[in-house]
Amino acid sequence: SQKAEGKAHGKVILIGEHSVVYDKPAIAIPFPVVNVTATIEENYTANHSIYINSKYYDGLLINAPEELSGIKACVEETFYLLNAKPKNICITISSTIPSGRGLGSSAAVAHAIVRAIFNHFDASLSKDIQMHLVQIAETHAHGNPSGIDMEATYSDAPIWFQKGKKTKALEIGSPLHLIVADSGRFGDTKTAVESIRSLYLKHPGPTRSSIDLLGEYTVECAHSLSTGDLHRIGELMNLAQIELTKLGVSDDRLEQFIQVARKNDALGAKLTGGGRGGCILALAENEQHAISLSHALKEAGAPRTWTSRLDG
Ligand code: MEV
Repeated sequence: SQKAEGKAHGKVILIGEHSVVYDKPAIAIPFPVVNVTATIEENYTANHSIYINSKYYDGLLINAPEELSGIKACVEETFYLLNAKPKNICITISSTIPSGRGLGSSAAVAHAIVRAIFNHFDASLSKDIQMHLVQIAETHAHGNPSGIDMEATYSDAPIWFQKGKKTKALEIGSPLHLIVADSGRFGDTKTAVESIRSLYLKHPGPTRSSIDLLGEYTVECAHSLSTGDLHRIGELMNLAQIELTKLGVSDDRLEQFIQVARKNDALGAKLTGGGRGGCILALAENEQHAISLSHALKEAGAPRTWTSRLDG
């Protein structure tokens, strides 16, 4: 039996989550401290079928539970596109990206699987095809995703993302020391996105202003990133958190951790990703500060934290 592999990394959104759904720009950062590997093994002795082996499910792909319907559709389309017949293939997914935490788990898993299948068949994979295939999985997972997760889990550089426009890599003027803390609660992005949609229908004026402000903060943040103005980036993160709270996607636990980060001199702190559970993101002055922030957040009850340094 031969083995083919595909890998992908997680992501964090620095600023612009949710407003990105309403055509505003957003900035996302690759977060390689968490990642996924998909491995494919072919066993010629059994029937023609595809198996999935993961923490959540181990069995035939056709019998996979609803949560894997996106992966199922994505794998089927990948085989169709390659005009390939599976011969008792087993796809093993091993991931350090927690799911439902806004860290891009669903997009990264799909990227890793698509890469592994193309590697298995020795086929070359363009970015367009990869995005097409991963989007199938993302649409099942998130309903109407902006597409930022699949771009950010693809890119090795921080990205400037706007729906329907070409994604751009961003220049970073000074290294960013980031801390992500898990609230320990599952954050359902689909529900969070839908909740803002209903808020918009009920209170269009204030909802629109929050979305517009988030868009403006994002534009300014890209500028501050390029000049390396860490203090302003932190302030913009804090301002974004105010609007995300108004939009109803923060919660008490996230707010508590954000306060802990700020009391420990974080330059800025906000929720990251869909919110309503999930993770917070804080910006530190330097590596030492990132470590002490991460300790403070753990002491405050965060089950997990990750630190990452991003260079320009
Ligand atoms: C999820 O990482 C980001 C959201 O803006 C949803 C999306 O863009 O699809 C909350």
